[in-house]
Amino acid sequence: MCICLRERRREKDREMEEEKTHPLPESCVMNGGEGPCSYALNSTYQRGVVEAAKEVIKEVIANYLDVSTLSTTLKPVCIADLGCSTGPNTFIAVQNIIEAIQIQYRSRGQNTQIPEFVVFFNDHASNDFSTLFKSLPPNRQYFAAGVPGSFYGRLFPKASLPFIHSSYALHWLSRVPLEVMDEGSPAWNKGRIHYTNAPKEVVEAYATRFAKDMESFLIARAQELVVGGLLALFIPAVPDVMSKSDSFTGLELDLLGSCLMDMAKVGLVSEAKVDSFNLPVYYTSPKGLKTLIERNKHFSIERMENLNNQKKNLILPNPSMRSLYLRAALEGEFAKHFGNEIMDELFNRYSEKVVGSSFFLNPETHKSIILFALLKRKD
Ligand SMILES: C[S@@+](CC[C@H](N)C(=O)[O-])C[C@H]1O[C@@H](n2cnc3c(N)ncnc32)[C@H](O)[C@@H]1O
Repeated sequence: MCICLRERRREKDREMEEEKTHPLPESCVMNGGEGPCSYALNSTYQRGVVEAAKEVIKEVIANYLDVSTLSTTLKPVCIADLGCSTGPNTFIAVQNIIEAIQIQYRSRGQNTQIPEFVVFFNDHASNDFSTLFKSLPPNRQYFAAGVPGSFYGRLFPKASLPFIHSSYALHWLSRVPLEVMDEGSPAWNKGRIHYTNAPKEVVEAYATRFAKDMESFLIARAQELVVGGLLALFIPAVPDVMSKSDSFTGLELDLLGSCLMDMAKVGLVSEAKVDSFNLPVYYTSPKGLKTLIERNKHFSIERMENLNNQKKNLILPNPSMRSLYLRAALEGEFAKHFGNEIMDELFNRYSEKVVGSSFFLNPETHKSIILFALLKRKD
């Protein structure tokens, strides 16, 4: 066996050992329901991504999806949205996909052959599927089904789907890298809740976790897509070249971390508790993502670009909306570790810090990007 293979096998064994001794933590999901802090009410930012993606989806379905092979019999066409949360963004996304496919049939004069559709809505089992299903659009043109489970594993039968979509979800890691929680490791992330402005060992630990997760994600999707099937991914990311002060998304999480440290100083939480908390979120870059996709031999990259129109669509006009946007997405993670009692205090402090910062209120400082990748399942 060559050295390279031996090393890979050893690394796999190490990983299996690690997973055995540190089972995956319970997954956290967006705030459910339709209350004031819910994801359903506070995801206009993510909706901006779905809206900006509409034209791209139309274009790629016209140019890359072979509708002649989609449904030659009376079988329905199945599509999936991975990391759907509670809506309503997922409904807009799947409607855009279905309309784009229907346009293709009509443009070929095949109006009578437009197939029926089944949409699989996927998220963690603890996602509020009940709110999702209660708010399904009454005039939808598809049958709906929920598929609970992590998209880092298999979700669907082999070769069962021609189109899989995921928006604003793949930056969530399967877990916090174990090294950053280990006091004895050079990657111990003391005093921070994320990797921006952290030592390189911390950044590397996050990057390695993302690479492993992406590998698992692509292995699973390669099995589930039919040959020629498409995987359309919209992923929050950072540009390839960033100065430290450019990393707005990271800094936003840093600001939240600094609120926790302030609370530790006045005894509202223990410092050790802050030290042992890290967010399982990673922002890849175009080059980084391309490298990881190319490692998987089953996909060709048909398109990869920054989603246009972002600035127009991605607007969080005031500090309280900015705070609610973060709260709807992250409260679960924080509450699991620190308890529900400090959540109002934490996010109020965050709003106050944003109010006091001209940097955060200036949209020009917002340098994060939405990366669009269209992958095709090869033969
Ligand atoms: C920010 S929300 C995006 C929701 C929706 N796609 C949108 O654009 O509004 C990210 C979603 O991904 C889900 N998610 C994160 N990791 C996941 C995983 N491993 N498997 C399935 N869903 C996951 C979260 O639970 C959450 O609902």
